[in-house]
Amino acid sequence: MDESSEKAILVEHLSKNFEVIEKKEGFLGSISSLVSAKKKVVRALKNASFSLREGELVGFIGPNGAGKTTALKVLSGLLYPTAGFVQVLGFDPWDKKPEFLKKIALVMGQKNQLWWDLPAQETFELNRAIYEIPKNKYKENLSELIELLQVRKLLNIQVRKLSLGQRMRLELVASLLHHPSVLFLDEPTIGLDVVAQQKIRDFIFDYNKRYKATIILTSHNMRDLIDLTKRIIVIDKGGIIFDGKLTDLVGEFAKEKIIKVYFSKEVDVRKLEGVGKLKRFDFPQAIISVPREASAVAAAELLQNFPIADLTIEEEAIEDIIRRVFRGEKIKKVRH
Ligand SMILES: Nc1ncnc2c1ncn2[C@@H]1O[C@H](COP(=O)(O)OP(=O)(O)O)[C@@H](O)[C@H]1O
Ligand SMILES: [Mg+2]
Repeated sequence: MDESSEKAILVEHLSKNFEVIEKKEGFLGSISSLVSAKKKVVRALKNASFSLREGELVGFIGPNGAGKTTALKVLSGLLYPTAGFVQVLGFDPWDKKPEFLKKIALVMGQKNQLWWDLPAQETFELNRAIYEIPKNKYKENLSELIELLQVRKLLNIQVRKLSLGQRMRLELVASLLHHPSVLFLDEPTIGLDVVAQQKIRDFIFDYNKRYKATIILTSHNMRDLIDLTKRIIVIDKGGIIFDGKLTDLVGEFAKEKIIKVYFSKEVDVRKLEGVGKLKRFDFPQAIISVPREASAVAAAELLQNFPIADLTIEEEAIEDIIRRVFRGEKIKKVRH
C-alpha cells in the first residue's frame, strides 16, 4: 500500500486564497470602492501539510483567523483549494461524490441545520432522505445516538424552545445519522455551559472509541483538548507550526519554568521578587516563574540566599501554553 491509502486524511502543501474587495473607510470610501474596486488576496492557508490515521482524534488549534474553519471546509469539500493535495478516505473532497458525503460530517458549533420551528425529529427524517439511509439502519443509528446524547425527551419539542446545549446535542444527532467515519468538529462546545460541554465531550470520546472514527476537533476549550486529544496540530496565519503530542507542546513552546519553594523561616518578599516573577506567595510556599534558560541560576540563587526547606522546578502548565496559542502570541520554538 502506498502512503496515501493508509491515511484517513492526507493534506499536502495545502493553500487557500480568498479574493476580497478592499473596503475603504466612510461613505466616500464606499463610493470609491464601487468605482475602482481594489482586490486583495487573503492567504487563509499557506502550504499546510498534515495527515491522520484512521481512528485518530486530533485537536486542531490556533488563534482566531488562523485558518481552521477554512481547512475543515476544504476537507469536507465546501471549498476548493488554491493549491496542494487533499485526500479524505481516498476521495478528493471537492468531487463531492455521494459515497464520500455519506462518510463524513462537518459540524459547526455556530451554525445549525435544525429547522427552528419544527421538532428535531423532522430534520432527522429529512436527513434520512438526503443521505438515503435505509429504514432499518436509520432506526438503529437514531436510537444509538439518542442514547449516547441523552436526547430522547427532546425529540418532539419545537427546536426554538430548547436550550443551546440541547440544540447542540440534537445537531450532532442530525449530523451523524448517516454514521460518518470521519468527523470535522468545528468548536462544538462553543457557548455551552459546563454541564452541556461535558455531555458533548463524553459523546465525542465514545463515538471515536466505538466506531474508530477519525476526528478533527477545533476548540478553544481547554478541557476539550486535555480530555479528548493526545495529538495537537497548531495552525497560525495559515501555516502549521506544531504537530505532535499535547504533552510535547510544553517542551516546544514553554518560555518559562516554574520554581516552587517552601521556606523554613520568614523571608523578605521584595528580595524574592529579584529572583523572578513572583506568581504567588503564601508562606511558607512561593511560586516563581523564570525564563527557561535562567532556571538553574535562579534555583541556585534561592538555595544560597534564602532559608529553603524544599525546592522543585516544574514546567509551565499546559493550560498556560495553550492559552498563549489562542491569543496568537509569538510562540516561537525554544531551544533547550
Ligand atoms: N469566505 C471568505 N472570504 C474571504 N476571507 C475569508 C473567508 N473565509 C475566511 N476568510 C479569511 O481567512 C482567514 C482564516 O479564516 P478562518 O478559517 O475562518 O479562521 P479560524 O477558523 O481559524 O478562525 C481569516 O483571515 C478570514 O478572515
Ligand atoms: Mg473558525
